[in-house]
Amino acid sequence: MAAGSTTITVVAANAVHRRDLVGLAHCTGFPAMVRPDRELTGRGILCGAGVRLEFECGLQKEAGSCRPASDTSRRSPGGEASRRKHMTCELRVIGTIRSPLIEPAGAPIQPVYAEGLVGTVEVFEPYAEGLADLAGFERIWVLYWCHLASAPSMRVIPYRDNLERGLFATRAPARPNPIGLSCVRLLAVEGRRLRVADLDILDHSPLLDIKPYVPEFDSFPESRAGWLSRPAVQRKRADDRFHDRPPPSGNCI
Ligand SMILES: C[S@@+](CC[C@H](N)C(=O)[O-])C[C@H]1O[C@@H](n2cnc3c(N)ncnc32)[C@H](O)[C@@H]1O
Repeated sequence: MAAGSTTITVVAANAVHRRDLVGLAHCTGFPAMVRPDRELTGRGILCGAGVRLEFECGLQKEAGSCRPASDTSRRSPGGEASRRKHMTCELRVIGTIRSPLIEPAGAPIQPVYAEGLVGTVEVFEPYAEGLADLAGFERIWVLYWCHLASAPSMRVIPYRDNLERGLFATRAPARPNPIGLSCVRLLAVEGRRLRVADLDILDHSPLLDIKPYVPEFDSFPESRAGWLSRPAVQRKRADDRFHDRPPPSGNCI
């Protein structure tokens, strides 16, 4: 057990599918099914199938880390190359995003189509000090885990096209690491909560990082935009295309 963490018994939550659970802020080694007596670290709310559990325990301050996926990969004939290939990285969930968007279908496909959609980026207490000096920025990058995304596929039909495209040439949320990247408007810094606008992020998305948007660094308006430069399908809202299968296994549910 991690130092300082508390074991919380999750009653009656066995056999709850991870899709039914929302808002788990941080978890270590959670499987697809939640079993009783799991150890939780972090802070958040776990709910589903009639169970609501608020927990706050053992927040870890150290950075996330990378390691070989399993002992098997360490012994595999590929040696170092294989070890790197099978590496997994552990991320620290640093907060949670509260949004009026409850489900994927109908959500804006990017912040630029989400004008006026207001929500909150909440940072857990140990990280709150890191919000100093952010108030001067008009926009911030929010990185989050797309916890409701379906299993990844290397070819997808993106929202703005009718043709199949390589996953990495799209912003589809169903990726090997379903990390979302949204440039949202910062309205106010209120303690450890950021009031933000132009959200294309679903409620309870686990927060991974925040960075300031700096026009000088982040804006290249004359850049080519590949297949998106063609007259695109004028779709501004998502449908269910990346959420119709069970979510990928990962550290967060
Ligand atoms: C095309 S993705 C783009 C997300 C982000 N702006 C990016 O570029 O990485 C936008 C869609 O992601 C979906 N989405 C947002 N948060 C999610 C989450 N936590 N899990 C799964 N899907 C999510 C919503 O349906 C939204 O319409």
